Amino acid sequence: MLGEHLRRIVWYFFNGLCRLGQASGAVARQSGQGKTRHKGHRVDVSEDRLVSLFNVGTVRFGPGCAVSCADDLAARGLANAFLVTTPPTRRLCDPLLGALAARGIAVTVWDSLAGEPTLDDFAAALAAARAVKADCVIGLGGGSAMDVAKLVAALFDGRQQIAEVIGVNLLKGRTLPLACIPTTAGTGSEVTPIAILGDEDEDLKKGTVSPFLVPDFAYLDAALTVSMPRAVTASTGIDALTHCIEAYANKFAHPVVDSFAIAGIRLIAAHVERACTDGTDLAARAAMLRASYYGGLCLGPVNTAAVHALAYPLGGEFHIAHGVANSILLPHVLRFNVSAAPTRYADIAGAMGITRSGNDLRDAEAGIEAIAELSERCGIPGGMSHFGISANAVPHMAAAAMSVTRLLANNPREVTEADARAIYEAAL
Ligand SMILES: NC(=O)c1ccc[n+]([C@@H]2O[C@H](COP(=O)([O-])OP(=O)(O)OC[C@H]3O[C@@H](n4cnc5c(N)ncnc54)[C@H](O)[C@@H]3O)[C@@H](O)[C@H]2O)c1
Ligand SMILES: [Fe+2]
Repeated sequence: MLGEHLRRIVWYFFNGLCRLGQASGAVARQSGQGKTRHKGHRVDVSEDRLVSLFNVGTVRFGPGCAVSCADDLAARGLANAFLVTTPPTRRLCDPLLGALAARGIAVTVWDSLAGEPTLDDFAAALAAARAVKADCVIGLGGGSAMDVAKLVAALFDGRQQIAEVIGVNLLKGRTLPLACIPTTAGTGSEVTPIAILGDEDEDLKKGTVSPFLVPDFAYLDAALTVSMPRAVTASTGIDALTHCIEAYANKFAHPVVDSFAIAGIRLIAAHVERACTDGTDLAARAAMLRASYYGGLCLGPVNTAAVHALAYPLGGEFHIAHGVANSILLPHVLRFNVSAAPTRYADIAGAMGITRSGNDLRDAEAGIEAIAELSERCGIPGGMSHFGISANAVPHMAAAAMSVTRLLANNPREVTEADARAIYEAAL
């Protein structure tokens, strides 16, 4: 049963992301600058590969920028907004609600989202948006609220049903204008072509991937992230770090994404602990929000790899938060990968603050230890046994992870089922 669920996760989510990011199917040239070869594995960094970035129309950064959403919507002649949020982020909407009212824009706030969104949550939100005949949608919250907003905007007119669009490039368009306002610094959903919903009946997560899910407007205001609890700050921050690392040390890495990835790693290395220690440190919050945005920019075109692939059984079966699962596995997967791309991991180590010695492998290994220590200092549990996972679970988790084929295909080193078992055992 679990295996079947995970196979479906693969189909819906990972295969999709890979296909979107590498739609050309272009094979990197076997020669050229920037290529690192090691023991039959490689990271090809080639500008010759086609890569597609689907960008948000307007991205505004800075204190108070979220209220300018009202001006942007008014400039489009919009008059009836549907705002998706969660109970903990509801009060963060107040300044925007005031600005919308001042512009004569009616707004319906839908804050019935208790956790990560399910198909039922989405259906309820869509029905509520239709009931008020909304003409635009705003998502204000973490990835959960933004993902619901993205799908409500896309499927508002009923031309397509959610079941028809789960997967890759199945959306035929988006009905309503869409604005996203993140209150976590993690998913980067405000700029990704992705939305994830849980299917409660099947106990799995389903991804819809389409350029039509990229919002028209995104507003990154660090003040909105200040109220994030420490544990959410830590796990979402390490999730963003994982996005950047896995995009940089990726078999299909691309220079345009490398820039975002390295910038994101630098920012997170310097600021995530500060943001955890003092949630009111606005400079740290702003740096983390920008890093999460950079990570989001990596997700569409290049995507993640074995850390995310191996993390999904932890979430699917044991309901460990996505960022926590990534954090537990990250150093173990990187130790496994490092021999395949020492120069790329040495670059990552440099971005983590390790002084380069000229010995890439040694620097890379120092960087991996720095990453593990960072997660620990942020208070994220370091092993799967914290969550009641024993060695007995390892074989079927490894088998399940192996079905995440398209994502594993991005990994700089091939992962066999025996490798996956060894990684999980090390992470117990
Ligand atoms: N669309 C994408 O590109 C993408 C990428 C990765 C993950 N996801 C999905 O995003 C979801 C996770 O999103 P997330 O990690 O941002 O967490 P989240 O949105 O689920 O938020 C986590 C918790 O923190 C609360 N919260 C958020 N911001 C807060 C704030 N400023 N103050 C107080 N509380 C706050 C939320 O209400 C929630 O209870 C998952 O469903 C995941 O699958 C989407
Ligand atoms: Fe992630």
